[in-house]
This record gives sequence, structure tokens and C-alpha cells, in this order.
Amino acid sequence: MTQSTGLAGAFDDLADSYDHRHHDEVARALIDQVAPGAQDLVADVACGAGAVALQLAQRRQAAAQPVLAVDLSPGMVAVGRARAETMTCGGAIDWRVADAVPLPADDHSLDVVFCASSLHFLGRRALADWRRVLRPGGRVGFTLPLATHFRASGDFARHVARDVPLPQTAREAGTWVAECGYTQVESRILVLGTRRAVVVSASSPVRLD
Ligand SMILES: C[S@@+](CC[C@H](N)C(=O)[O-])C[C@H]1O[C@@H](n2cnc3c(N)ncnc32)[C@H](O)[C@@H]1O
Repeated sequence: MTQSTGLAGAFDDLADSYDHRHHDEVARALIDQVAPGAQDLVADVACGAGAVALQLAQRRQAAAQPVLAVDLSPGMVAVGRARAETMTCGGAIDWRVADAVPLPADDHSLDVVFCASSLHFLGRRALADWRRVLRPGGRVGFTLPLATHFRASGDFARHVARDVPLPQTAREAGTWVAECGYTQVESRILVLGTRRAVVVSASSPVRLD
């Protein structure tokens, strides 16, 4: 197997000790805020070990199409696949080890794009790409750790995109989305013990430009 390097390698190293409990809680709040339909075509961008994809797969047992789950780190995806096996929902997720930008999806083919705790690694080019893959009026939802309560360290800090620093406030993250042309932007702070995340949801414009 090819050795992963850079950010993927850093997440490969983290995969076996990943904090599923925290990220599963963040994912739950994100899915609740966006509230996808049972048959929506959905992607989990930078899915890691599948915090969002696994919960969607469990909630949408009767969905016709699998959740598209894409991540750069083979180690994180392997952990996600193993978790899916234990939850017996493996077939409901289409796992891909790949760069998530551009997302391997056709233009205007998805109803909802999720991205939990990862947009700071992808940068604003991801927000533009999600407008490409979303149908008009489709929904986007993402979370980010709040800068006042979390600081990326070591290898991870080196990979934070300059145009998406961790936000200081919910309003700041909402502004980036509005600047990318999304509408119906809602952003709020999620409190989880001593940790804080910003949860943002928005709609792709109904008219294509
Ligand atoms: C903090 S983890 C979050 C994972 C998952 N979304 C969750 O909520 O637990 C960040 C993830 O982003 C992934 N990632 C970073 N840059 C990426 C890129 N360009 N394409 C795909 N995945 C990427 C990493 O491999 C890692 O799994």
C-alpha cells in the first residue's frame, strides 16, 4: 500500500485514537439543523471515519441511493468502513479515498452537502465547488471548531486554509457562506461540555448563474 503523506498521513496516524464521541455529537447536531429528506442525494465531504455518513445511513435505512463519503485519509476511511460493518449499514455508504475538492459528483446532482469539522482544511474553493454539485435550492451544512476554544496544532495547523481560519464567532462563518452566494444562512454556536463548534446551514441559490 502507498504510504500516505502530509495531511492524509497525519489523519492516518490519528485514526485509531479518533474522538468518535465528540464528532458523532457534532454530526448529530449538524444533521438535525439541515434536516435532509429521506430520499435526498447526500454527500459527506471530508467524511473521516464517517461521523455524518454513518448517522445518515442509520436514519435513512430505506434511502434509494448511498451517501457519498469522501476523504483523503485511507486510515480514517478504513475506520469508517469498520464502524459501518458493526452497524450493519455498510452498503448505504459509498466510501471514496480521494481529494474532496472537486467532489466526485456531477454538476447539480446532489440535494445536500455536509462537511463536519473539516472546511478549514479545504478552504473557500470547497464552498464554490458545493454550489457546482448542488441542485438549485439544495442545502449545505458544515461545522467548524470555534477559535476561542480550539487551536489546530503541529501538522494540522500547517494545513489550515488561509481563507478559512477557524471562526471567532458564528456570524463570521455565516458571512463566508453568504459571500459565496448562498442564501437562507443560519449559523449558531453548539456547546458540548468545554468544547464549542459553529454550525452553519444555507441554501444554494434557486437560480443558476
Ligand atoms: C477533523 S477530521 C473530520 C472528519 C469527519 N468529518 C468528522 O466529523 O469526524 C478532518 C478530515 O478532513 C479530511 N480532509 C482534509 N483535507 C481533505 C481533502 N482535501 N479532501 C478530503 N478529505 C480531506 C482529513 O483526512 C480528515 O479525515
